[in-house]
Amino acid sequence: RGSGFGPGRGCWPGPAPRLSLCPLGRAQNVKQLYALVCETQRYSAVLDAVIASAGLLRAEKKLRPHLAKVLVYELLLGRGFRGGAGRWKPLLNRHQARLKAELARLKVHRGVSRNEDLLEVGCRPGLASQVPRFVRVNTLKTCSDNVIDYFKRQGFSYQGRASSLEDLRALKGKCFLLDPLLSELLVFPAQTDLHDHPLYLAGHLILQDKASCLPALLLDPPPGSHVIDACAAPGNKTSHLAALLKNQGKIFAFDLDAKRLASMATLLARTGVSCCQLAEEDFLAVSPSDQRYRQVQYILLDPSCSGSGMVTRQLEEPGAGAPSKERLQALAGFQQRALCHALTFPSLQRLVYSTCSLCQEENEDVVRDALQQSAGTFRLAPVLPSWPHRGLSTFPGAEHCLRASPETTLTGGFFIAVLERAEVPSSVSQAETSAPEHIPSAAPKRKKRRCKAAAAPSAPPRT
Ligand SMILES: C[S@@+](CC[C@H](N)C(=O)[O-])C[C@H]1O[C@@H](n2cnc3c(N)ncnc32)[C@H](O)[C@@H]1O
Repeated sequence: RGSGFGPGRGCWPGPAPRLSLCPLGRAQNVKQLYALVCETQRYSAVLDAVIASAGLLRAEKKLRPHLAKVLVYELLLGRGFRGGAGRWKPLLNRHQARLKAELARLKVHRGVSRNEDLLEVGCRPGLASQVPRFVRVNTLKTCSDNVIDYFKRQGFSYQGRASSLEDLRALKGKCFLLDPLLSELLVFPAQTDLHDHPLYLAGHLILQDKASCLPALLLDPPPGSHVIDACAAPGNKTSHLAALLKNQGKIFAFDLDAKRLASMATLLARTGVSCCQLAEEDFLAVSPSDQRYRQVQYILLDPSCSGSGMVTRQLEEPGAGAPSKERLQALAGFQQRALCHALTFPSLQRLVYSTCSLCQEENEDVVRDALQQSAGTFRLAPVLPSWPHRGLSTFPGAEHCLRASPETTLTGGFFIAVLERAEVPSSVSQAETSAPEHIPSAAPKRKKRRCKAAAAPSAPPRT
């Protein structure tokens, strides 16, 4: 979610990433293959028309129609065959001029100039495709200044700290910015693909949507704390929590899905996380009275959800319907049980509940019911007063929740609620326990100084 590319995760606005297509099954990156297939599917009608009018299948009897479509997508609409395509390259080269001419003719015929305008209206990605590529700097391994210098040396142009969403919207080409709110977040144009970038492969960068960076930041556990990440895989938020903890303290991370936990373990190793204990466990079965969790004051709950706010979904299935009533009910039931369960951990002070769903049933309704059941023990913390998109006013205080969307915040669709314990033990002063309403690492007056963390790698390490 809001993290790298792939089925149901993150986004790939613009052309799908370049692949070695020889043969397709040997593509090194399944996620990239998935992106390529989705984009090919989106342009299916256009590709059919071009292939037919260029007579490709008549001329190349051994070329199967589906493969032809993927190859022609890559040639005309994707990244071309720079270094890829293997044995198909000569075949495509023979037809290249004709295919290009047919695409141009189709555009003239339809009176459009951009490839995207050839799509049926329902297949156009709209605002979702304009969500920039957000890149979180992993402060366990490096710092923003080092990363900025690295990109500058690679020919990118650094435009400084953005002052508004308009600055982000205007990004083009090889320009990048620092996010106006989050100081460890770099912003590149939507089409930027950094999956092969050495800093990403070395774990110095995490490709994570801005909205998905907010839960850990708003939980804000100080170094040394004990934290539960209740539904943790594939682990982008866990790695963010570890960075905020500076690897000091403990994260107990749970997930039910063994495969996702395995990729999470790889991610945590790559990003230098050393304070996390992973467990393949149902969070609902984790006992709040277990002595191991007695010091847990912070919980991040980012449960399975319909994903209706995910940019990928909006790009893959523009105009796709909302999740069915039954599915929503089942998801909301689990989300509510998980939230109520989390609120029973005895030392809990602060909890962040987040989803990448736009549905009220999975968001405001879940939070309202959990608050009612907690009978005043927990309340919503008023966070980020300047954030423009707030929770739906379905109950008093719901405006303390945050929403996000491509239209309002130039991010994926997201929901966040921060709950804090209302009763303050008499021995602890209010000043010590009250929740910060700012984003800690977003202090605008940051002095330019070199970071102590390891310098950015000079050669691309491969994993
Ligand atoms: C939205 S994803 C979490 C994304 C993760 N927080 C991140 O930022 O990378 C939800 C996760 O909850 C897990 N999950 C679902 N039910 C669970 C349960 N009862 N206990 C623990 N994890 C569960 C799913 O396997 C899935 O990996």
